[in-house]
Order: sequence, then C-alpha cells, then structure tokens
Amino acid sequence: MTESSEIIARQERAFTPALHLYHPLVIARGEGSWVIDPEGRRYLDLSAGLAVLNLGHSHPRVLARVREQLERFVHTGGVYFNETTVAAAELLAVAAPPGLDQVFFSNSGAEAVEGALKLARYVTGRPGFIAFTGGFHGRTLGAVSVTSSAARYRARYQPLLPVVYHAPYPYCYRCPYGCQQESCTLACLDGLQELLRRIITPAEVAAVIIEPVLGEGGYVPAPAAFLAGLRRLCDEHGILLIFDEVQSGMGRTGAWFAAQLYGVTPDILAVAKGIASGFPLSAVVARREIMEQWPSGAHGTTFGGNPVACAAAIATIETIRDEGLLPRCRQLGERTLARLRALQERHPRIGEVRGVGLMIGVELVETAGQPAGAACERLMAWCRERGLIIINCGPERNVLRLIPPLTITDAELEQSLALLAEGLEALA
Ligand SMILES: Cc1ncc(COP(=O)(O)O)c(C=O)c1O
Repeated sequence: MTESSEIIARQERAFTPALHLYHPLVIARGEGSWVIDPEGRRYLDLSAGLAVLNLGHSHPRVLARVREQLERFVHTGGVYFNETTVAAAELLAVAAPPGLDQVFFSNSGAEAVEGALKLARYVTGRPGFIAFTGGFHGRTLGAVSVTSSAARYRARYQPLLPVVYHAPYPYCYRCPYGCQQESCTLACLDGLQELLRRIITPAEVAAVIIEPVLGEGGYVPAPAAFLAGLRRLCDEHGILLIFDEVQSGMGRTGAWFAAQLYGVTPDILAVAKGIASGFPLSAVVARREIMEQWPSGAHGTTFGGNPVACAAAIATIETIRDEGLLPRCRQLGERTLARLRALQERHPRIGEVRGVGLMIGVELVETAGQPAGAACERLMAWCRERGLIIINCGPERNVLRLIPPLTITDAELEQSLALLAEGLEALA
C-alpha cells in the first residue's frame, strides 16, 4: 500500500461519503502551479484548488504576510477591532466595482451568499428571490434554495427557503428558448419579465441573484446585453441585484470582478474563493447606503474577518495589483481560447469552447451533441495519470473547466495544453 492509498483509505473511514473529491490524489506539497504527492509525483494543477489559488500554491508573499500575522495574534472574533482586518476591507473595497465600498467578512462562499440574501431582505422588506437555472450558490439551506445547477444538491432537503423562483440562465450554446446565438433576441429576459407578470410581483422580490459567469453550472459567461437588461429591470422595480462572484471574482476573469468586465454594477457582491489564496475568507460588499440600513447585530460572525485570513487577503490583492496579473490573465486567457478553438476544429468531441480570462470551459459532446459526461471523466483520468489535474462541471459533468493560477508560466500553460490535446487524441 502506498502512502497515498493509505491516506485515501483513512479518509474513507474518517469522513462521511457526502464529501466529494474530484481526484483520487493526495498532495504532500504545493508549489506555484504544481502539486506533489507523497510518492514524489508532480502534477500541473489547472484546478487552482477549485478557483481559489489564483496566485498558485504557497505564494511567498502570502506566506510571509501570514507568518508575520501569526506571530502577533490569530483571532479577534466579534470582540476587538484590529488593523489587519480593516486594511483587508479597505483594499477589497478599492478592487470592488465602483460604489461598492462597505464590507461584511465571513468564512465561505455559501456564507457570503447567505449574507447577501439576508441583507437584501432586510433592506427591501420584501421576501422573494429570483435565481437562474444552472446557478450554484453553496450548500447551506438559503444558498441551496437559490441553487439549481443540479437537482441532487436540493434533493431531500425540502422544504427550502420559500418565495424563491428560477428563471432560465442565458446558456446560449443550449439556449433554453431554442434561439441561435447569431439571431439572439434575449428571450431569456422576456422569460424573466413573464415570471414577474405571472408568478411573483416585482414588489415581492427583494433581489435577483446571478453568477455573471456561471461556474459549477457549466462555465458559461452571460451575454453582456442580458446583464445590462437585468440591471435595468432591477432598477425599474426597486429589486436589488446580487452578483455571486465567489468563483468569477478576484482577478479570475482578467478584471477584479466580472462586473467590471461587463460594465454592470450589482447592488450587492458575494466574494470568496480567490480572496485569500486558500485561507477561509469571504465577503459581502455593497454600497454604503445599503449597508447602513443593516443595523448593528442584524448579522454577525465569530470567525469572519479572521486576521490571518485577512493578512493573506492583503497579500493576495497587493500581489495581483503589483505584478500586473489582471492584464496577464486576459492575455493568457485569449491565448488559451485561441488554442482550444483550434483544437475544436479537429475534435468533434468539443462542442463549445467559452470563457473569459482564465475561467475557461470546454464542453464535450457526443456525436449528436448530447453532453459527454463519461468521456469527460475519462479524459480527466487520462490527464491525471500523466501529471495534469483538470476538474469538470455542468449538470452532466461534461465541461472541462480550465482555471489555472493567474501566475502560471507560459511554459507550464503550454505543457498543459499540449497534454490536453494529446488526451483528446487518445479519447478519439
Ligand atoms: C459561484 C459560487 N457561489 C458560492 C459557492 C459556495 O462556496 P463555498 O463552497 O465556499 O461555500 C461556490 C462554490 O463553488 C460558487 O462557485
């Protein structure tokens, strides 16, 4: 028995099977774009720890800042103020879309979504939420209620939060209205209007929540005109617009947030994953006028804004800024999309290549266009056996998601894409 298989066997005894891991891979070390297993095998990691390690594993600036904080104190809870947490909030507000300048820190993406939903209800005094099919917002009950990327995430947890409705996400490759991309008339916006006409009145809706780039649901960037239309619709009815940028935020799309890329500013932003390079931290960010209507004690946390996680957030934000990683991300993203589109010409298995920055989805299909989930899993295993870690998403698990660290080198990216191309040949 290897050390890896022994650890996996121990995990299987110690943990509930509810916890799903993507690969049977144990890591002993992480270095930049690489993970190393206990047997010394090296893997290029295109998962970035599920879109978290935007600076790669163990970035020296993050580690230095964290060490310095560890030496002073590690916890403040809801008891004392501290400068590290304040500085992290100030930096996040600068990176956030224009006007979103106040922060509430928590620990996970789901918690940020819960905070955003609670804030919207509190401020509007309205009960309802509209979310989009395919959206993934987390595992807590409120977040699951707005999640619809797969029915299995909701099954047997009913009743969920009431007064939640789902409208179709503008997933153009498989348009829910059967439209062609070239002649799209944004029927999905009409669908939303219809929901507001027939199912729930606008005056009952606190917020619309959407991932501007669908993550778990299949790596689908929403069309810009759709998000602009959504913004107008919300303004018209006094509905708050929540962007869940837990996955698309913190530089992943080549902008701090996809909101800036689209030029559409939400009222409330949920942030997590990439914010602190692997330390548990998340945030609700909103305009001061909104936040100021949330009085002391209306929401709270013990661990949120932990100073060690905030030290990591400071180093993360400063490094993305100082090392020009946003333009670098856009450049690498364009290069990767071009390479993958060239591969698509040769491989009918690739139905669509899509994405923004380094948040790229490759949708694999069967000959008649059906989702090719099993082929996707085979390809991931093939790549892993040759030292490349890729994870998948989409309701049929047929979309490869390429989310390398923004710090990946040209050579590492090249090596990954070459191996992926070989894997596609092998699959064919
Ligand atoms: C868009 C989005 N929102 C929320 C979450 C939930 O985050 P967490 O797992 O940290 O609770 C995720 C996790 O993948 C996500 O991708």
